[in-house]
Amino acid sequence: MKVFLNNSIILVEDGHISPFDRGFLFADGVYESIRTYNKKLFRYEDHLERLGRSLKETRIDFKELDSLENIIYELMIKNEIDEEALVYIQITRGTAMPRTHSFPKEKITPTVFISVVELNDNTEEQTKGVKVILQEDVRWLRCDVKSTSLLPVILASQKATEENAAEAILVRDGQITEGTHTNFFAVKDETIYTAPKSRLILEGITRKVVLEFCDKFKIDYREEFIEKDELKSFDEFFITSTTKEITPVTSIDYWTINDADPGKVTKSLQAVFKKIAEDY
Ligand code: PDD
Repeated sequence: MKVFLNNSIILVEDGHISPFDRGFLFADGVYESIRTYNKKLFRYEDHLERLGRSLKETRIDFKELDSLENIIYELMIKNEIDEEALVYIQITRGTAMPRTHSFPKEKITPTVFISVVELNDNTEEQTKGVKVILQEDVRWLRCDVKSTSLLPVILASQKATEENAAEAILVRDGQITEGTHTNFFAVKDETIYTAPKSRLILEGITRKVVLEFCDKFKIDYREEFIEKDELKSFDEFFITSTTKEITPVTSIDYWTINDADPGKVTKSLQAVFKKIAEDY
């Protein structure tokens, strides 16, 4: 497998990072996950804009964002990716000694890592839907930044895995924010609900695409928090992300929704999404 690290494309086993890299010491970095449809990067401009925003908010001084796209396509060729690809980009503040919490006084070069792998098939989850569990949202208050400091979601996600669930949905002060790596949606009387853009969620690109469909097809939606205690008043649920696309949720904790049949609105959104992806 070939990856991009320290300004060149190398075999992954030849990659070296200093133990003083601030990404290693502090998770002082940001990232993006992007996928392809028909071998083209999906909504690349949106991902790049979000990466730029994450860099700005964390004050990581990386100016060569425009150089990344060619590197990604080159990695796809070098790794002989035949199917669709999942691209991971991570940029850390860089390496500095000694270890100090505040930024190093001298200017350092950010560490850039890019990998490209073949995407796993998610047809079964898309068709049958998935189980999710609820977990307390103990993350920081800048969830709008795609930071690599992911310990709270790693623990919640592991809990989901141990309970045979596909995702942990996070609850802060009685309200649903989002999943560990997905946005969460509920449907009631044909109106779609999802948490509002704020510092409490990551504004997913797939979320944005879904809301664009709603505008286009005149489907009502509200960007409002869903109360945990009111979950049972909704008709259907789904989660969205780059890798999960639009995945129906068929059970939450020990509640099985509609005999575990994916909902009608969810399925029609999936159909629109599939068409967009096929024509991309
Ligand atoms: N995760 N919310 C969180 C906390 C996320 O980490 C993600 C993405 C999303 C969905 O965003 P998008 O639709 O742009 O993929 C929402 C990626 C896939 C990851 O962690 O790799």
